[in-house]
Amino acid sequence: MRSTRKHLKRTTAAGAIALAAFSLQPAAAQAAPAPTPGGSVHTHVVGGTRADQGEFPFMVRLSMGCGGALYTKDIVLTAAHCVDGSGNDTSITATGGVVDLEDSAAVKVNSTQVLQAPGYNGKGKDWALIKLAKPIDQPTLKIAENDTYNKGDFTIAGWGADKEGGDQQRYLLKATVPFIDDATCQQAYGDSLTPGEEICAGKLDTGGVDTCQGDSGGPMFRKDDAGQWLQVGIVSWGEGCARPGKPGVYTEVSAFAADIKKAAAGLGS
Ligand code: ARG
Repeated sequence: MRSTRKHLKRTTAAGAIALAAFSLQPAAAQAAPAPTPGGSVHTHVVGGTRADQGEFPFMVRLSMGCGGALYTKDIVLTAAHCVDGSGNDTSITATGGVVDLEDSAAVKVNSTQVLQAPGYNGKGKDWALIKLAKPIDQPTLKIAENDTYNKGDFTIAGWGADKEGGDQQRYLLKATVPFIDDATCQQAYGDSLTPGEEICAGKLDTGGVDTCQGDSGGPMFRKDDAGQWLQVGIVSWGEGCARPGKPGVYTEVSAFAADIKKAAAGLGS
């Protein structure tokens, strides 16, 4: 019988894995992304496909090379590690309304203020708000206010790298990743994980699907019982991208929903 194992599959059985190896990019780890169910050969986000125009209208690309989601029409929710601090800041441009960043219909709006999560010090609390000079007239993304939907399968999307060390993308890419519980995620990341503030997702056994550099700040979301998109995570970090046994780590939005709401109110309108 013919073997279908054309690609060498990297296993993590090679012994103890150094937790400090967050920037290592062994070539073998990025070989052979899993084929997508539709048989598409595209590999985006990592292991995803192109989003349709209008599919995720709340997605924005930020000029520092991050993603974000419209919390209101003029406030973008992103990651704390994507911004420098809090205060007046007109240096960021948000691009919305398109999947193709080079589309002439792209709406580009500058920032006026940035609010980085109070107490952010690089561990947990990886959220920030960016106030825009004018609204981007697209549907917004509701955030999870409790942990009801912190389970199941999640959608991820972004213009970030399509593999470790890969290029930023012109077209918005999307993929689906399953929830990983805190205990399992702690086995991968130990004390680097802040379980009360972070939620993990990824294909633990096979890897192959994940967010990656440049997707940071973008949303991880799913449908609620009413069929509405609901944001449960913010792309934060991971060891490499799409490695087996190394899930993506996302800010647990429900843990900060009240803080986000308060901070947004403080940005005025
Ligand atoms: N920190 C990265 C960024 O700034 C996001 C990394 C996400 N990594 C992952 N394996 N899910 O874009």
